[in-house]
Amino acid sequence: SVAPKSWDRPLEGKVAVVTGAARGIGATIAEVFARDGATVICADIPAAGEALSQTANKVGGTSLALDVTAPDAGETLSNFVKERHGGLDIIVHNAGITRDKTLANMDEGRWDSVINVNLASPQRITEALVESGALREGGRVIDVSSIAGIAGNRGQTNYGTSKAGVIGLVHAEAPVLAKKGITINAVAPGFIETAMTAAIPFVTREGGRRMSSLLQGGQTVDVAETIAFFASPASNAVTGQIVRVCGQSLI
Ligand code: NAI
Repeated sequence: SVAPKSWDRPLEGKVAVVTGAARGIGATIAEVFARDGATVICADIPAAGEALSQTANKVGGTSLALDVTAPDAGETLSNFVKERHGGLDIIVHNAGITRDKTLANMDEGRWDSVINVNLASPQRITEALVESGALREGGRVIDVSSIAGIAGNRGQTNYGTSKAGVIGLVHAEAPVLAKKGITINAVAPGFIETAMTAAIPFVTREGGRRMSSLLQGGQTVDVAETIAFFASPASNAVTGQIVRVCGQSLI
């Protein structure tokens, strides 16, 4: 049967965690989730400080200083949501970093840190949330890949590899999580205008901009609204999917 549609607040009663929520895409995801009725926990590294509190205040949510690479990050998050809210419905693994270098100039530190933040941490945290029972039945896991993980981008070997790994993770975890009634999907944004893309080297940045068939550069809200679909009841039967945001890659 077709349930009535709650256009205004499709996430009413849901508890959501957004990592990397202090600024950029993560801050906008928090805003869109709050608009849609969710209780939002904004997580970011301790150094994010004031920016994180500002996002949390803006969305009427809670802030949580959490480095996703900390070995106990999953346990900390599980305990936090259980104590405060009895559990969690939506986790968005948005925290991400770039440490760009061409492959010839890549060093181990840059490689490891990017793989750790962008790929290993989402997996570890999802596992902890599921194992601890913090992520409730009907829960949603939403990962953030990138067009660089599909098409590659010059100078982003470590980043592109980590984001391609996220796609593999979504495909691998979907059937496992489905047994618990949890969906997992990812967005693969094209070039989005944020502090992250403003900071990357010129050639890499312009390469990214040219990957979009739709726009010069997308906005954070474009990504956040697609993520909101994955979080909403409208996507109940959607899992294991990667949706490109900002056009089809031209490369
Ligand atoms: P941003 O650099 O503006 O924001 C990233 C946030 O993640 C920051 O607040 C940062 O403090 C936080 N963060 C970094 N390491 C962390 C850690 N260890 N633990 C917790 N938080 C951490 O980046 P932006 O552009 O908003 O990107 C958000 C996500 O979207 C990232 O995963 C990025 O890779 C992805 N993405 C961005 C695109 C773009 O064009 N801006 C394109 C495709 C994907």
